[in-house]
Amino acid sequence: MENAPVWSGPGKANKLIVLGIESSCDETAAAVVRDGRQVLSSVVASQVSIHHPFGGVVPELASRKHIEAIVPVVNAALAEAKIPTDQIDGIAVTQGPGLIGSLLVGFSFAKGFAYGNSIPWIGVDHLEGHINSVFLEADPPPFPFVALLVSGGHTSIYYVTSHVDYHLMGQTRDDAAGEAYDKVSKMLGLGYPGGVVIDRMAAEGDPSKIHFSRPFLDKQLFDFSFSGIKSAVSRYIQTHPDTFREDQAHIAAGFQAAVVEVLSHKIIHAVKKTGCSHLAVVGGVAANRGLRYAVSRKASKFGMKVHIPDIELCGDNAAMIAAVGYHRLKGHEHAGMDDDVYSRVKFKPTQKAFQSYVPL
Ligand code: KG4
Ligand code: ZN
Repeated sequence: MENAPVWSGPGKANKLIVLGIESSCDETAAAVVRDGRQVLSSVVASQVSIHHPFGGVVPELASRKHIEAIVPVVNAALAEAKIPTDQIDGIAVTQGPGLIGSLLVGFSFAKGFAYGNSIPWIGVDHLEGHINSVFLEADPPPFPFVALLVSGGHTSIYYVTSHVDYHLMGQTRDDAAGEAYDKVSKMLGLGYPGGVVIDRMAAEGDPSKIHFSRPFLDKQLFDFSFSGIKSAVSRYIQTHPDTFREDQAHIAAGFQAAVVEVLSHKIIHAVKKTGCSHLAVVGGVAANRGLRYAVSRKASKFGMKVHIPDIELCGDNAAMIAAVGYHRLKGHEHAGMDDDVYSRVKFKPTQKAFQSYVPL
């Protein structure tokens, strides 16, 4: 699409409607968002029941299910928003990172939809989507702010200076926090995905009964490591074969207390370092009740304002993708027919150069 249409008309500037599409992992999602802020519809078809028996996402099965779901999910999003196709001004679709086969389903659909309807389209980074999920809430943070992104695939802290500019301050060196939750759940025989189950179970246990050491690494810096704590839980289970089942809630509570203490310490420390007064917690693990409470409590001591999306906007969804797409399309960016998906995290040069922005 050499001469792809781009947004330019000033008269339309406040009435831009974007269709968002997300299919990076095991959720097929579509959403209609006005002006990058107002969610007119957000439909998410989860594949949890398909992958549950396997204890994790099976990539081949995920791609096939996305193919089955994509058209009904987009139709449902358009119907719910009461927006006919010819009123869609642009399409935003997750380009990566994620499972290649899964990404390709949404990406190819978006390409075809944009071409068929002669509207501009844009590939969006999934992580950028999570960061922007806070702008779908009533009281979004002003720039700059610091964001803790905690999901099944990523755990990182960003200094966010605009909707599309963010600078990496630290990230996990091994497992993501959500991945650790999922693995601990599997070890306890509680199935996939594990975050919600462990969160619920932790509320019934005593976090001081079983202590897991806190993997702070350097307390002054912002990198994480969660593989050690996962191994500590595994060792505990192996050395307590007769009692670990009845102590499940205490194990969950002890594990969650350790993870939450590290995450909340690092995000608060990052906010102090940057001199910001607003912070956001985004991604699937931002739904965690222990984390939401701990960050809010610590932040209030220092007069910081916390922004955490509603639970349904924490996990993967297409509204956050549409929100980013709005800003990128408004900036006259658009994708071309040769564009392709990518599986791994893409770092912008500015992310590596964070130290030059804020001396640590
Ligand atoms: O953002 P997301 O939906 O997908 C990725 O981009 O990875 O995050 C999914 C992750 C899973 O690891 C899931 O176990 C975790 O978020 N999760 C939770 C909770 N709800 C979902 N982890 C802890 N507590 C929760 N309440
Ligand atoms: Zn995600």
